[in-house]
Amino acid sequence: MDKKILVAYASKYGATAEIAEKIGEVLRQSGLTTDILPADRVRDLAPYEAVILGSGVYIGSWRKEAAQFLKAHEQALAQRPVWLFSSGPTGEGDPVKLTNGWRLPAALQTIADRIHPREITVFHGALKVEKLKFFEKWMLKNVKAPVGDFRDWDAIGSWAVSIANVVKEAGVAA
Ligand SMILES: Cc1cc2nc3c(=O)[nH]c(=O)nc-3n(C[C@H](O)[C@H](O)[C@H](O)COP(=O)(O)O)c2cc1C
Repeated sequence: MDKKILVAYASKYGATAEIAEKIGEVLRQSGLTTDILPADRVRDLAPYEAVILGSGVYIGSWRKEAAQFLKAHEQALAQRPVWLFSSGPTGEGDPVKLTNGWRLPAALQTIADRIHPREITVFHGALKVEKLKFFEKWMLKNVKAPVGDFRDWDAIGSWAVSIANVVKEAGVAA
């Protein structure tokens, strides 16, 4: 049977969407049929063998489309291998250290515990100041978040390769 993979994402300014595209591209290069879709455009997980879900982080929360995706598809997700990623911190160094160990909003952790994701990872994000609203610029200035594109394409690519290897193993089970 052809194994179809879903990469779903929630992105306000496009940085997470591009990470999802990269992950999907790597999966396709590995020979896996892959859909890359905004989380709010996915209705049914039945066609998918495995799911990767990522969201941009805003004031410690996921975008609501990603949070709603987790809630709406909890049962189906619990029956499949799932990988989650947050795309957020800017600045140099290990992104999980930059977030002080934070990987997922606490409000979603209970659902994640029931889904049992294979991995929850954090990728560096990108802040494009020219796109931001006045309040967002003001807020980021206050928290002194470094501005720029800190996405680590090698880390993203390696993570996708590791997922492709797991999915391609025979008899992968949730
Ligand atoms: C108003 C605002 C609040 C943010 N809050 C956080 C945060 O709490 N934690 C974090 O790691 N990144 C935070 N970020 C950084 C974004 O998560 C990062 O820019 C991400 O790559 C944006 O993804 P998107 O372009 O897909 O929406 C914030 C960015 C903005 C503009």
